[in-house]
Amino acid sequence: PGSRVSLTVNGVRRTVTVDNRTSLLDLLREHLDLTGSKKGCNAGACGACTVLVDGRRVNSCLTLAVRLEGAEVTTIEGLAKGDRLHPLQQAFIDQDAFQCGFCTPGQIVSGVGCIQEGHTGSPEEIREWMSGNLCRCGCYAKIERAVEQAAGRK
Ligand code: FES
Ligand code: FES
Repeated sequence: PGSRVSLTVNGVRRTVTVDNRTSLLDLLREHLDLTGSKKGCNAGACGACTVLVDGRRVNSCLTLAVRLEGAEVTTIEGLAKGDRLHPLQQAFIDQDAFQCGFCTPGQIVSGVGCIQEGHTGSPEEIREWMSGNLCRCGCYAKIERAVEQAAGRK
């Protein structure tokens, strides 16, 4: 069984018909060709699929697409403004905060959420509120510094 759902993705209104079991992650990657959000575990454990829904961080692999009627979704592809990187994207480059890059889209979107939520008072607080995003390459210290930089503390 399929359903039609209309939602806004990175500022563009999209209407798609999807199977009722389709996750937001599969909607993005397979129906809208937005492959920046990564499928790490597909089970809510790694954060590689993190996007913002109505400004809040969610694991898109655990979110059913058909429940998002009218929602505003922001993915990694929606953060830069024209040629200008989002400050946190620039901070990841400045701080050398990635190796393989697989976790990076989720880390950056999650970091944007973390900053918007105001959970950047100390390195420890950043680590705690970024703890849902795993990095197999172990870039945690640099990721924390990148979030700190974009939050304006560096
Ligand atoms: Fe969604 Fe791992 S792919 S949390
Ligand atoms: Fe490789 Fe994080 S940079 S998993």
